[in-house]
Amino acid sequence: MEEKKWLQMPEKVGKNIIMGQAMNLLDGVLDYKELMMGYACAIKEINTKFEVLDTEFEVRYKRNPINTIETRLKSQTSILQKMAKIGLPPTRENIENSLNDIAGIRVICSYIDDIYLLADALTKQDDIQLIRKKDYIKNPKPNGYRSLHLIVSVPIFFAESTKEIKAEVQIRTIAMDFWASLEHQIKYKKNVDHAEKVIARLKECADEIAHVDETMLEIRKEMDHIQEKPTDIEALYEKLKKIDINLM
Ligand code: GTP
Ligand code: MG
Repeated sequence: MEEKKWLQMPEKVGKNIIMGQAMNLLDGVLDYKELMMGYACAIKEINTKFEVLDTEFEVRYKRNPINTIETRLKSQTSILQKMAKIGLPPTRENIENSLNDIAGIRVICSYIDDIYLLADALTKQDDIQLIRKKDYIKNPKPNGYRSLHLIVSVPIFFAESTKEIKAEVQIRTIAMDFWASLEHQIKYKKNVDHAEKVIARLKECADEIAHVDETMLEIRKEMDHIQEKPTDIEALYEKLKKIDINLM
């Protein structure tokens, strides 16, 4: 049987070449890993900031403005696709300068006013820099999409250095999130017949959902205004319940 060429290569040279190539490859991968580490830390930092605000509200007012927080690091596929769309080589510098949404934090709130309360509480923190704000609640997208989008930067303190890292924060109500999640799934199904009809019906749903959000907020505000005077024992239990709140 004829031996393959690469098997005849002197063992030492072959190994060196392979080791060299592996080193170069790994350097690139590790550089990328370090880049992503910064974004992962920014997510942790901002996530904690929102958790702190939610805990503060729970203890002070016995109410949680945040329903859930979802976080995600942009996938390598999405990063490469976005860079190709922009038309820039995917170097570390280009990625850092052109992409604002590698670190993504989505905060899902109970009521519309919680969205602005949380956005203000975040952006007025000394270390947070607001880079851009898009209010798709006051100005919904033509398809009906609603959410508040913030691009912020946060300093990350590493052992030897500090780095400002950008993140995209999306804040929306449960209702807005319900619509956006379903619309997102529908959008990616190709070959939809009567696409225009589908778009119009989705917009109708978005309007109905916006109406429900406003009504729920009105109801909550009405209830907030009706302050029934608690009995002494009720007031005592209210205080005890606050002490019982789980802080961890
Ligand atoms: P992209 O990230 O490229 O879209 O950049 P952009 O600066 O135009 O972003 P924009 O702030 O308008 O939206 C960013 C993100 O918001 C998207 O990645 C989605 O998560 C969400 N989003 C925006 N528009 C829609 C929409 O019509 N439907 C849904 N489901 N989500 C949307
Ligand atoms: Mg995006």
